[in-house]
Amino acid sequence: MDEIILSASILSADFAHLADEIRQAEAAGVDWLHIDVMDGHFVPNITMGPFIVETCRRVSTLPLDVHLMIEKPERYIEAFIHAGANYVSVHVEGNPNIHRTLQTIRSLGAKAGIVLNPGTPTCAISALIPAVDFILVMTVNPGYSGQTFLPETLSKISEIKALLERYQSSALIQVDGGINPTTLPLAYQAGARVFVAATAIFKHPQGVQEGVKSLREAIK
Ligand code: DX5
Ligand code: ZN
Repeated sequence: MDEIILSASILSADFAHLADEIRQAEAAGVDWLHIDVMDGHFVPNITMGPFIVETCRRVSTLPLDVHLMIEKPERYIEAFIHAGANYVSVHVEGNPNIHRTLQTIRSLGAKAGIVLNPGTPTCAISALIPAVDFILVMTVNPGYSGQTFLPETLSKISEIKALLERYQSSALIQVDGGINPTTLPLAYQAGARVFVAATAIFKHPQGVQEGVKSLREAIK
């Protein structure tokens, strides 16, 4: 079994106690913190901006994985990296100058990721493989935590794995949405190695520690 990377999405954390929630996730052994940025246009929900990234940077040394669900993400790349983002992912949908945006992310010293919604085919990103460090396959439609994993996204994960082999790319495949101890092994089998989870970590009935443990144990 390959090592997996767990990226804890703070979208389901209790924001009245954000620092404490992050410390618990860190103590439980998560690898990255995932920060879901939504603008009310690209997706219906509105969430957080660079200020929250900067807040996370102050309370944690973990890599910060910033998922931009916003229109014209190129306007904010610098602000998010300046705030402390280590991984920045941008959606391929509706972004005509996506290649330049990915170049900008790398040129500012962060890892660049491309994101595909469930309705977007693999071919939409084939020209971008040399420009990315990771590929985020959405396993729900973006906008909210707590949604149900879409099994039809599994074949796309396998297709992307084959595409990366063809390009001899070492880019990581990340999945996001509905990841829990049942769905994680399915995505792992298909080729994913980075797993984003909000509900399964921060809303686990026995607490964050147990949530992280059950995800790690799901592929053992
Ligand atoms: C959804 C976000 C996800 C979300 C995942 O648009 O991109 O990162 O927080 O939440 P869960 O793990 O509850 O599906
Ligand atoms: Zn996300």
